[in-house]
Parts: sequence; structure tokens; C-alpha cells
Amino acid sequence: MRMLHGKKVVLGVTGGIAAYKAVELAGRLKKQGAEVHVILTEGAKNFVTELTFREITGQPVTSTMWGEVANFQVEHIALARLADFVIVAPATANFIAKAAHGMADDMLTTTLLATRAPVYFAPAMNTAMYENPITQENIERLIQQGWRMIEPETGMLACGTIGAGRLPEPEDIVQALIETEGVQETLAGKRFLVTAGGTLEAVDPVRFLGNRSSGKMGYAIAEEAARRGAFVTLVFGATVALPAPDSPLVTTVRVESAQDMREAVLKASEGADVIIKAAAVADYRVKEIAADKIKKNDEVLTLELVKNPDILKELGEKKRAGQILVGFAAETQNLLDYASDKLRKKNLDLLVANDVSRKDAGFASDYNEVKLLYADGRIEDISLQPKSKIARILLDRIEDLCAAAPVPF
Ligand code: PMT
Repeated sequence: MRMLHGKKVVLGVTGGIAAYKAVELAGRLKKQGAEVHVILTEGAKNFVTELTFREITGQPVTSTMWGEVANFQVEHIALARLADFVIVAPATANFIAKAAHGMADDMLTTTLLATRAPVYFAPAMNTAMYENPITQENIERLIQQGWRMIEPETGMLACGTIGAGRLPEPEDIVQALIETEGVQETLAGKRFLVTAGGTLEAVDPVRFLGNRSSGKMGYAIAEEAARRGAFVTLVFGATVALPAPDSPLVTTVRVESAQDMREAVLKASEGADVIIKAAAVADYRVKEIAADKIKKNDEVLTLELVKNPDILKELGEKKRAGQILVGFAAETQNLLDYASDKLRKKNLDLLVANDVSRKDAGFASDYNEVKLLYADGRIEDISLQPKSKIARILLDRIEDLCAAAPVPF
């Protein structure tokens, strides 16, 4: 099992001789399944190159706030938001001093100041510098802030002295990170059914009615459940090109229309402990699908639509004791009113409400901002963050619901 599977790690490398070890560290983090994003300080670039890290991690490497933007780097705090945790290795005395005093004059200090993710420092420097009360005071300030230190080793240093200050071996740093950040198999053996993407309703052999769902939200949930050890059936409709979930625990079922989705979902729901319906299902379909391509002979073309089955409602009606049913609500207005109505009418345990009129969240975006509505009336606001993190919070809450379920989970 890869213990950091799916974790998004920001690796900050600062300018000390031990920077060469960060190359191996990046490789080992990746081997444990992490997605590794490297930030180099100006000093680090004297020891190691962006190219090396790009080749090792398969990700763009960042070293400046002012260069060309690459992929997700649409803003200078994107990595701060994305990170599941940040590790600075090696952390020089100078960098520790800057971080301890809240400086934000380069990409790494800015990312650290902006992140809410756990932060780890692996200090590495000459023994006298490490033991200097100024450095120790700076380290203490960072610890007070909640950041954690991976203690340097004692031994022969590059400067020829023997003492504390040597960067631990990359293998040991990874082990220390796994102990606190490693994947916990809290859902081992549980059966999840997750839906994702949009359904397509055929109009004729060429056209269809569809919606803007990309599948990203549902995929993120399926991946997170599998990461926690659950068996997942992922029923998905139309999506953007997404890589198949990287887990043998996920079985995928491709569907097209709402009726196809109903059939696949009802079948998989029988043994499911938890059902999460993130798919955007068409409420209506064309009454009669034209056998041949409709020709554009008329100025106005009227399509007669009939209602699709409400799959979630059906699941709510036949919900077993102890089964957890989670729905989504995609709204463009009156979010809370419509969402609480759906929660009640569909007999849900939890409803995830999102405002899909926004450009920076909801449909197609990598980010979402949601409200969680519980059957007992509680409402929880989840701030704008990557869908992978929303999925994690959602699964934490589902684990709580399962623990409190009348029939033990
Ligand atoms: O796929 P992404 O681009 O990542 O976007 C994510 C998302 C915005 C699609 C997702 O977060 C979301 O909101 N999914 C639900 C979309 C939707 O169909 O909402 P709704 O309010 O119309 O439906 C309410 C619930 O009933 C949903 O759980 C839906 O799956 C279900 N439903 C709806 C209609 C129907 N006929 N059968 C259903 O089961």
C-alpha cells in the first residue's frame, strides 16, 4: 500500500548543501503515491535545478512569483490551497528566520503564510548555527505556530564539523511524514456507491440534451473513499477527460441517460453501506427520440419532454436501516431553501448544497464551496477549496454519521 496515495504535497527546498537530498525526497514521496509540487528558493537554485525536480515529480516546478503561470498556478496562493501538507527540506537558518517573522517575499514564504495545511520543517545547517539561540528561538516560534520540526541528525556535516544539523535521510523524513499524514484505512471493507458526471438524453442519433457537470466532484469522492479502504462502485455519465481512479478498489460503470443511471444505481445500491449521488441527472428526457437526424426545415422546433425518474428519491424510499444516503443540490438561487426541501423529501442523511451559478466553483471547476445540511437540522459551511479537500471533509462527516447510525456501521 502506498501510504501517501493521492496526497498533494508541497516540497519547499531552500539553499543549503543538503538540497541535493531533496531530489531523492521528492522521488520517495512520489513513490508513496503523493503528487509532489516543488518550490525552490533563489538560494536552492544554486544547488539543484528546476529541471531535475520537474523530471522526478512530473509536475511544474515553481521558483518565482513573477514568471509565466503554468497549469494551476493561476494565482500565487494556489499551491497553499492545494497542499495537503507542506514540507520544507532542507530548511536553512536564514529561511527559518524569515518564516518565523512572517515574511512573504518569495513563492515559498508566501505559500507558507497562506496555507492552512500542516507544515513540516526539516532544518539543516552548521551545528553552531543550529544551536545559536537566535535560530532556536525562531524554531520555537514556528513550533508555537503549530508547525512541526523533523529534528536534524547528528554527524559529520558538509563543513567538516561533527554535531547536530545534518538533514535526516530522505527515507526517514518520508517515514516521519507517513506517521502523521499517511492514509488511514478507516473505511476498510465498506461498500460505497458514488455517482459522477452528467447524464445525456438523446434527441436523435446525432444530438443530445446534457449539462455542465465535469465529473470532478464525484471522482474526487470515489477516490477518497477508496483511499480509506472502501470498495467503491463509481457510476458515471458524461465527464471531461478524467484519469480513471487509480485504485483496484474502484469499479467503474459507464452510463449515458438518466434511465441507464437508474438501472446501474439501483443494482449497486443493494449492497451499499453508503450512497453518494454527486451526478447531475437530467430531470427530463425527450418523449420520443427521433430515429433519424432531425432536419432543419422548420424555423421553430419544439421538443416534447417527459420527466425522468428521480433516482435519489427512490433510493430514499427504500433506504435500509444503517444505510447512509447523501445527495447533492445544484442551485442557482435560494440555495438553502431548495436544498433543505430536497434533504427532507428525499429522506437523506446529508445533503451537499452548491451554488452552480458561480464561475470559480461548482460545475467544471477544480474548486467547490458547499453547505452541508444534516437531517437533524445542522448546517455547516465549507469554504472554497479544491474538490479533493471537499471530498475529504465530506468523508470525515460521513464517517461520523456512520459511527452514530442506529445499526452499527
Ligand atoms: O461534476 P462537477 O463539474 O465536478 O460538478 C459537481 C456538481 C455541481 C455536478 C455536483 O457538486 C452537484 O451538485 N451534483 C448534483 C447535481 C444535480 O443534479 O443536482 P439537483 O439539485 O438537480 O439534484 C438533486 C439530487 O438528486 C442530486 O444528488 C442528483 O444526483 C439527484 N437526482 C436528480 C434528478 C434525478 N432525476 N435523479 C436524481 O437522482
